[in-house]
Amino acid sequence: MKTLSIIMSLFLIGSGAAFAGTSGRKHAGHTMSPEMKKQHETMTTIGKQWKACKNALNDNNFKDAGIAVETIIEAASEIDNFKLHKNTDNHKQFSEQCNAVREKIIKLNDVIKTRDVNAAENIANTVEESCRQCHIKFR
Ligand code: HEC
Repeated sequence: MKTLSIIMSLFLIGSGAAFAGTSGRKHAGHTMSPEMKKQHETMTTIGKQWKACKNALNDNNFKDAGIAVETIIEAASEIDNFKLHKNTDNHKQFSEQCNAVREKIIKLNDVIKTRDVNAAENIANTVEESCRQCHIKFR
């Protein structure tokens, strides 16, 4: 237990130092700034709606898939304003990935309206690949 508590203290010291100066708030106990809280919420919404969209497509339920995708498009307009935790000096690439995924999701929305489930699932796979790519680098 002693080792664990030493590791924990090192972690707290480290994260305290990383956050000192970037914001006036203490990070101990994971107090989140309102921006950080908001971006967690945005991404949680996108994650939930994405699952809902895929389930709806599985059931050939184009109406619900469309509703989910439109909610994602709206929420995704927030992503570009995120404060990055990782690779913070690369906001340009972050924005590019953000725009790329938005374009794909808008395309998915158009395809859902044509009720072509195979085409929709193909685009959905490319969307998911974009989610993954951005998470690898920036999440
Ligand atoms: C342009 C970059 C980018 C793209 C594209 C992206 N994400 Fe994220 N995602 C992030 C970042 C950054 C976080 C961490 C947010 C935070 O913790 O502040 C995150 C976090 C998440 C989370 C965890 C929620 C949380 O607690 O923060 C989920 C779920 C998620 N993303 C789902 C998705 C899905 C589904 C897609 C594709 C439809 C997607 N993301 C596309 C950048 C992206």
